[in-house]
Amino acid sequence: MNQAQIKVISSGKYIPKETITNQDLEKMVDTNHDWIVSRTGIVKRHKAAEQEESSDLAYHAAMDAIKKANYDINQIDLIIVASITGDQMTPATANFVQTKLGITHECMSFDINAACTGFVYGLEIAASMLASGRFRSALIIGSEKLTKVVDYTDRNTCILFGDGAGALIVEPSEKKEDQVYFYNAAKPDELLSLTVERYIKMDGRKVFLFAVDIMQKGIEKMLNESNLTIDDIDAIIPHQANIRIIQAVSKAMNIPMEKFVLNIEEYGNTSAASIPISLDEYMLDQKNRNQKVILVGFGGGFTYGSALINL
Ligand code: COA
Repeated sequence: MNQAQIKVISSGKYIPKETITNQDLEKMVDTNHDWIVSRTGIVKRHKAAEQEESSDLAYHAAMDAIKKANYDINQIDLIIVASITGDQMTPATANFVQTKLGITHECMSFDINAACTGFVYGLEIAASMLASGRFRSALIIGSEKLTKVVDYTDRNTCILFGDGAGALIVEPSEKKEDQVYFYNAAKPDELLSLTVERYIKMDGRKVFLFAVDIMQKGIEKMLNESNLTIDDIDAIIPHQANIRIIQAVSKAMNIPMEKFVLNIEEYGNTSAASIPISLDEYMLDQKNRNQKVILVGFGGGFTYGSALINL
């Protein structure tokens, strides 16, 4: 059984200013606004500037989290960046973030790649490391510059993805109600990939079916492990890949759509950044603190995972 208890200290996000609207995409590929909205729920996505790398997006999201809590940066001794679009092979994007934050004291920083499930994986890794007693404060970031790996001649994929970053600061907790639950796993499959050819490729229909199924399992697992019912859960923060995936899960599980935090219309699919961006937007409303939320995601690999946390 998972015994980790974590206190959520602060969240942050960074969204680049430039946007790619559906109308912009109409000029690039054979598509149209109505098709994109009805098939995905996406109206626009954001695009990082040419010189802005994933570590820059991650740094801004981290600073947002640090500033919001007026957090002492000297506390942070663990930085995990989840990304499929890191700046370069090595050093890790997390190492660059550490440098940009000016953290020169001893701090472990590394990247993980679990595609769109990366943030949930990262949170479990951080929770386990904090529970070991060897670390006092973890900064977990999902950051993506997906526009650099999107093929803008492929209408099947270019309509979906956007850039952004989300961050969360967590510490170990003594409180029983801060117990977290996780369910993270993978099932080898290559229906969604990003190869050295540099572009995202996927079989959309098959990914869709897998997602609807695995998201239900992820939510059920959290309820079973915690002995809670869906009524005890204040919100579900799903990976924002396609509004129809979330609607199908809502319908199949009889969970009202109002329980799902949604922003796909504004950002599209930002991969590992999608859940922490949504989490930050949810936490911006103070009345949403001290709540139980389920994070649930899936992505290339296939990876999938869920977490039940107390905000
Ligand atoms: N604009 C207009 N038409 C498009 C289009 C576009 N951007 N993309 C595909 N089409 C066409 C297809 O060519 C197809 O035409 P056809 O019937 O003449 O062959 C038709 O629309 C239906 O295509 P289909 O692939 O069945 O659409 P869909 O309803 O499955 O929607 C996705 C496509 C990609 C939006 C959807 O499958 C999806 O979101 N899948 C999950 C992807 C995902 O979440 N990936 C990330 C995981 S982390």
